[in-house]
Amino acid sequence: MSVTIFAKPEVQAFLQTLSGLDKPEGNPRVKQIIHRLMSDLFKAIDDLDITPDEYWTGIAWLNALGAAGQAGLISPGLGLDHYLDLRMDAEDEALGIQNDTPRTIEGPLYVAGAPVEQGHARLDDGRDTNGQLLRMHGTVYGSNGQPLPGASVEVWHCDTRGFYSHFDPTGEQAPFNMRRTIIADDTGQYSFHSILPKGYGVPPGSPTEQLLFALGRHGQRPAHIHFFVGADEHRKLTTQINIAGDPLVNDDFAYATRDGLVPEIVEHTDAAAIQAAGLDGPFAEITFDFHLTPLVAGQDNQLVERLRVAA
Ligand SMILES: [Fe+2]
Repeated sequence: MSVTIFAKPEVQAFLQTLSGLDKPEGNPRVKQIIHRLMSDLFKAIDDLDITPDEYWTGIAWLNALGAAGQAGLISPGLGLDHYLDLRMDAEDEALGIQNDTPRTIEGPLYVAGAPVEQGHARLDDGRDTNGQLLRMHGTVYGSNGQPLPGASVEVWHCDTRGFYSHFDPTGEQAPFNMRRTIIADDTGQYSFHSILPKGYGVPPGSPTEQLLFALGRHGQRPAHIHFFVGADEHRKLTTQINIAGDPLVNDDFAYATRDGLVPEIVEHTDAAAIQAAGLDGPFAEITFDFHLTPLVAGQDNQLVERLRVAA
């Protein structure tokens, strides 16, 4: 039998008590957020008549999710990372700030401390021989439309098995493989050589995948390359580009694909182009410029602080 008790005064008082709102100790912001989230959860249990069996299934799943370290994985899977981006877009729109290079989600696999190189870097160590050679380059522009010498381009991507260094379950990759910080040259240009990454998915059988399957979804991402781009007097841009032609380019479980972030790939097979690029064979070329936005009242109003791995 379905009952509804949420609106009862004793339930409302209980929510105040369990959120600590009846005492001065603790953190007011935490109390405010927990009160709201618990109220919404209590109401959902009432409205949907969530059974104890269903509830405890959820708790067991949360325990498994935490034990697997996958909270940062289900977060984009349930669209929360993209939702935070949409809110920042809306904030920018209200402030009249135009993002010529769209932001998109960071994901959970950044590692601070990658080697810093001037102007150009090679990202891979040459051991993943299954990947197509890649040359990517472009210019970092400032809010006045002028190039930004000295801008910092942090780049990271996975190998052809879909594994990132520092998170490689096979342990095969050296630290910072396919991760670099490139300082734009005196014309604001950056370039790097690497291999084209492949798409990847959430771990098979994982709590993240179990939930996505229960939703009738998949846990796969199209191939992509991550970036943080920053410069003095500008806001740090968090973004990714997708590798054009990947079949999942518009079907990303993490909802990171955005218009303007799928640059064209130009294939080069002629000897002159290969020699000019300084590469050993046919390669894919991506040209992509980054456009940064100004500080707001002297501040990066969208700088995100979160727990990140550092090595
Ligand atoms: Fe990624």
